[in-house]
Amino acid sequence: MTKKGFIFDLDGVIVDTAKYHFLAWKKLANSLDIDFTEEENEQLKGVSRVKSLEKILSWGNKTISEDQFKALMAEKNEDYLNHISKMDEDEILPDVPRVLQLLKMKEQAISLGSASKNARAILDRVNLKASFHAIVDGNDVTKAKPDPEVFLIAAKQLEVKPEDCIVFEDSVAGVEAANVANMISIGIGSTDVLGHAKYVFKDFTEISDEFITSLIEN
Ligand code: BG6
Ligand code: MG
Repeated sequence: MTKKGFIFDLDGVIVDTAKYHFLAWKKLANSLDIDFTEEENEQLKGVSRVKSLEKILSWGNKTISEDQFKALMAEKNEDYLNHISKMDEDEILPDVPRVLQLLKMKEQAISLGSASKNARAILDRVNLKASFHAIVDGNDVTKAKPDPEVFLIAAKQLEVKPEDCIVFEDSVAGVEAANVANMISIGIGSTDVLGHAKYVFKDFTEISDEFITSLIEN
């Protein structure tokens, strides 16, 4: 059987951590007298921690010192870590385990490809680390999505050519990164947002075993 590389983004694909990022960013923004809405949080999906804080500060028209910037980054992450420390397997999104199980049964190569520097801690919390042959996250890259670096490193670690890789992504930047990497992009979310993906599904419950098998065989 052909061996393909299946690369999963983490936040918004495997677990719904956007709600915890939202709570942590909102607390921080409000402490600086900056309003922070769910719509703004949407725009931070897939965006690195540094770039997220830069965006929030620019929305609030604030300039701060480099030291203060570092302190705020640490503060946000501490708050976020506090939220994720309470996570468990129940927070894995529906049907993700089914798809991982099927890929394992079909002896496919599986990697994580996430912008988060907390990816390993989250996989530990939800007990999924053993499902991945490679884990590439925010600690391994120098360029953030939409740069394809994270996915290209994952392909290399899996020893699969980029054109034989399939990427599951919920963010605009992530789908773009997969396309630039010459991989098959599968958007998880709405077609309105992820129309540039090769396929789009609302979530994994819409992805059939037959569809996964066709990706392996074609
Ligand atoms: C992405 C999230 O996966 O990781 C972003 O979608 C987040 O919201 C980014 O900012 C970086 O995550 P972390 O855990 O390193 O702050
Ligand atoms: Mg994501």
